[in-house]
Amino acid sequence: MNILVINGPNLNLLGSREPEIYGYETLEELMMWLETSPVGSNHAFKFFQSNHEGEVIDTIQDERHWAEGILINPAAFTHYSYAIRDAISAVEIPTVEVHLSDIHKREEFRQKSVISSVCIDQVYGMGKDSYLEGLKLLLKSLG
Ligand code: DQA
Repeated sequence: MNILVINGPNLNLLGSREPEIYGYETLEELMMWLETSPVGSNHAFKFFQSNHEGEVIDTIQDERHWAEGILINPAAFTHYSYAIRDAISAVEIPTVEVHLSDIHKREEFRQKSVISSVCIDQVYGMGKDSYLEGLKLLLKSLG
């Protein structure tokens, strides 16, 4: 399967950004770990990170003929980006939303996702394992 993995704003700072919440591994380490995990083997990945909403939308659109599944950590866009929500809905590619932290047990504004209703699942609170679990769910749904 062709899997597009998207990471939203500030996730480029993983490893040094509030490590007690987000962990000590860099985004590159985490993505490498995901790609080389037994679950990831035999699948093709494209990784994209941006701090800009429009770039996330452009990537979803540009990769719509390549990607068979999308794994996305929309980061803070989770909580207010109707534009990213609409992009996911428009391309009709099965998508799983993932979060390192447990957004449901943090500040009130983080508990709401405007993305989840267009995703097949939401995985949160498992640290880097959220990505692995999200990938498993995505691959399962793709058959
Ligand atoms: C996050 C949770 C978001 O609320 C936050 O804005 C992030 C990361 C997570 O992975 O836990 O940047 O998506």
